[in-house]
Amino acid sequence: MNYNKKTVRDVDCSQKKVLLRCDFNVPQDKETGAITSDKRIVAALPTIQYLLENNAAVIACSHLGKPKNGPDPKLSLAPVAKRLSELLGKDVIMAADTVGPDAQAKAAALKPGEIMLLENTRFEKGETKNDPELAKAMASMAELYVSDAFGAVHRAHASTAGVADYLPAVSGFLIQKELDFLGGAIGNPKRPLVAILGGAKVSSKIGVINNLLEIADTIIIGGGMSYTFSAAQGGKVGDSLLESDWLDYSKDMIAKAAEKGVKFLLPVDSVCGDKFAPDAQSQVVKAGEIPDGWQGLDIGPETVKLYCDAVADAGTVIWNGPMGVFEFPAFAKGTEAVADALSKTSAITIIGGGDSAAAVEQLGYADKMSHISTGGGASLEFLEGKNLPGVACLLDQ
Ligand code: 3PG
Repeated sequence: MNYNKKTVRDVDCSQKKVLLRCDFNVPQDKETGAITSDKRIVAALPTIQYLLENNAAVIACSHLGKPKNGPDPKLSLAPVAKRLSELLGKDVIMAADTVGPDAQAKAAALKPGEIMLLENTRFEKGETKNDPELAKAMASMAELYVSDAFGAVHRAHASTAGVADYLPAVSGFLIQKELDFLGGAIGNPKRPLVAILGGAKVSSKIGVINNLLEIADTIIIGGGMSYTFSAAQGGKVGDSLLESDWLDYSKDMIAKAAEKGVKFLLPVDSVCGDKFAPDAQSQVVKAGEIPDGWQGLDIGPETVKLYCDAVADAGTVIWNGPMGVFEFPAFAKGTEAVADALSKTSAITIIGGGDSAAAVEQLGYADKMSHISTGGGASLEFLEGKNLPGVACLLDQ
């Protein structure tokens, strides 16, 4: 896939109506609906400000949640419009619908330097079906399409990809940054390229492991999925997370790495707990020797040393998935040590979205990484080497 896409800087947006797809799928308090993190709104500001300063009339849009049956007041983007308005220090005109009469009228009246927000794109049934009629209706309000919704580029929806059939389509600064870092790491990495893969399940990382076996110099495995690899090698894993359907696959991956000359590092010891709880009793045991009644909840101290040494002289490190149950302080040490090692290496350090980003933020290392992706599913599919519809639809440089 070509990651070298035209950006807002490559087109004239002055006096133009610009449809700007953002990822305003923000977390909300279940009871009150209050936005609990405005990170995604803040991340969209540079592109919005650039467009406004360059006299564009900005018609912003986004999905929020997964409404199933049309408009749902609980998933209205009105709270996002309010927060965006506070952050910009200017009015954000909220439309009552997505492509209905109110949106059309407000878009028609919008002046250069003004911004409006369409109602949740998923209130329209055609959104997730990438319905061309809906895409055409969205596009009809604007003269240029800018996508900055990296978190949604893996979705082939009307507002993330379909509209590009009807308007010139370029990226905003957020997508550009994601493509520079993630695309650079996959397409032309500074070597050695070390990939650290963690998280609970091998099954959710198959695509990433397969793709990175072709690209990386070293693959490091941690987290719950390491116990399936351990069991695949005949190890005892006690009550640890185990995906027995994936034992053969795991064995094959270890063999494939050896064939390709890719270093494939697995834990040599584990911190085990007697239950899955923050107050579990713990002990360190050698990999493959976890007693019954115990479960691996973090990588052990010998593994920490091995993994930190492996990233010390890396050129690029991609990290996706925590090393243990970092939410429990007693089992966060492995994840923290890896974050610390990454903060000290001179390598380009790229953190995948979702759990890994949350871990790095919670442990206080966020500002020490080269890049933390804003996309969970999107960054995973990027690392899988998949075609991302929301990127593919943008004009090439
Ligand atoms: C996300 O939160 O990962 C993106 O906004 C995509 O949301 P979705 O999984 O509902 O498509």
